[in-house]
Amino acid sequence: MTDATALDDPTVASSPSPTCLEMIGVSKQFGGHQALEDVSITLSPGRVLALCGANGAGKSTLVRILAGAESADTGTIRVHGSEVSIHAPQDATRLGLSFIHQELNLVPKFTALQNMAMGADRTGRGGVLDLRSLRRKALQVQERIGYQVPLDVKVEDLAVSERWMVSLGRSLMRDATIVAMDEPTASFTREEAERLYSIIDELTADGVGIIYISHRLEEVLQVADDVTVLRNGRLVGSFAAADLDIASLTHHIVGREVAQVAHRAGEVDPASGPALLEVRGLTREPRVRDASLTLHRGEILGVAGLVGSGRTELARLLIGADPVGAGTMTLDGAPYRPRSPFEAIKAGVALVPEERRSQGLILRNTVSTNLGMASLREPGNKLGTYSPRRAVRIAREAVARFGIKANSVHETVGELSGGNQQKIVVGKYVLAGPQLLILDEPTVGVDVGARGEIYDIIRDLAAAGTSILMISSDFEELAICDRVVVMREGSIVATVPAARATKDHLTSLCFGTTEQEPS
Ligand SMILES: Nc1ncnc2c1ncn2[C@@H]1O[C@H](COP(=O)(O)OP(=O)(O)OP(=O)(O)O)[C@@H](O)[C@H]1O
Ligand SMILES: [Mg+2]
Repeated sequence: MTDATALDDPTVASSPSPTCLEMIGVSKQFGGHQALEDVSITLSPGRVLALCGANGAGKSTLVRILAGAESADTGTIRVHGSEVSIHAPQDATRLGLSFIHQELNLVPKFTALQNMAMGADRTGRGGVLDLRSLRRKALQVQERIGYQVPLDVKVEDLAVSERWMVSLGRSLMRDATIVAMDEPTASFTREEAERLYSIIDELTADGVGIIYISHRLEEVLQVADDVTVLRNGRLVGSFAAADLDIASLTHHIVGREVAQVAHRAGEVDPASGPALLEVRGLTREPRVRDASLTLHRGEILGVAGLVGSGRTELARLLIGADPVGAGTMTLDGAPYRPRSPFEAIKAGVALVPEERRSQGLILRNTVSTNLGMASLREPGNKLGTYSPRRAVRIAREAVARFGIKANSVHETVGELSGGNQQKIVVGKYVLAGPQLLILDEPTVGVDVGARGEIYDIIRDLAAAGTSILMISSDFEELAICDRVVVMREGSIVATVPAARATKDHLTSLCFGTTEQEPS
């Protein structure tokens, strides 16, 4: 094992320990903004190097430079010991580098096989793509990763995790020796993540070197051999994963101590106050069946469940995104049955969707336009007119309040780091001033420091009387809730007060291995 200091040292290139990849002294500016400054990383064959850092630290930029998607201002890249120049994605592919970016570059209208075949070198006689051998190869790749995605289904009809597997499959079709994965598990279930970890074990056993970007620190420590931490585009250091724990890694990333999520139990009991939302027997086959819940004013109600348990579908019914099959809802005592998300927003109910990039943002528009999108109807604005000046002022306040890292509110959202894009989506709906805010996986892809800021925002909203429904697969973060309901197979099967909402208890309720909670 290479020791921590040697990893920092560019001269290690001449040492006998084999490396498959070195990036040395890489710098990159965007406009006046220094996204990377003199960053170096070293990856050895058969090892996993995690890149950690807060939102906007420069992780994706570093990987995009390696991929030939951006060009570095300065810096050297060595692959298997030889210096290389990577100007285009094809250069990277030729060198055996492969990438699964934060935004999967798949063609939705193409099938899984067609997507996997892209860029693979399988030309038969006459230079035509040899489809039969491509299919054979694709099946081999799937066998290797132990995951079958239907090859003839269009990518747009696949689940998010399956799309990701197609992207990984494409890498392996090209016989990559270095694979970089940018936040692979952000939208994975625990099971899918476990499967990925075993795929990574298979790959490293074959000598593949892996660059792994993730905000889930527990996972980083489980998967990685080495960890390189960036902060504001600079190298903080490189460490052996075995020498780190969550606290020390967090400290390296954020540069200060970060408090654990504190349980809310015992503060106040909003559940004793007036109900805002009552849901009775809500049904839309096949995903939501006879679901009932009560949400009080100023309450934070968590929704736990396995993926596929119907949580996102329930949220969609609550905002009128899908038609309700049966059941009733009342909001503030009056019948509530929105026919569209727009009607829901008018009634004061907003949903921060899980699929934020596609559903929550217009990447080509500016920060201020995106932040203003949900709140055009402002309580104080009687005419309901849209004032760009006012939008900019509100956006500036929001950027400060939510700690969004952007050069200005006029910056294009597509230029922001993934986590900062997510903060904008959350901010956009918070600015709409809803009386009920539904959050679907609010902190996926958000760094450890900013996560705490989002919890603070949620708590402040609740304290000011907003009711919160928070769907989360991170059962530890459900600690910020007053109560947690558990969804299984489309129904609410238990309601758990904060004090009993431990990770273990919630997990067993989700799997149905525990007696039901008395509700
Ligand atoms: N094409 C671009 N134009 C302008 N600025 C950019 C561009 N791409 C990235 N940046 C800026 O470079 C910085 C680093 O961004 P990067 O996406 O590498 O962060 P990251 O570490 O991957 O963050 P996250 O964890 O949120 O994904 C950010 O400040 C971002 O706004
Ligand atoms: Mg990123």
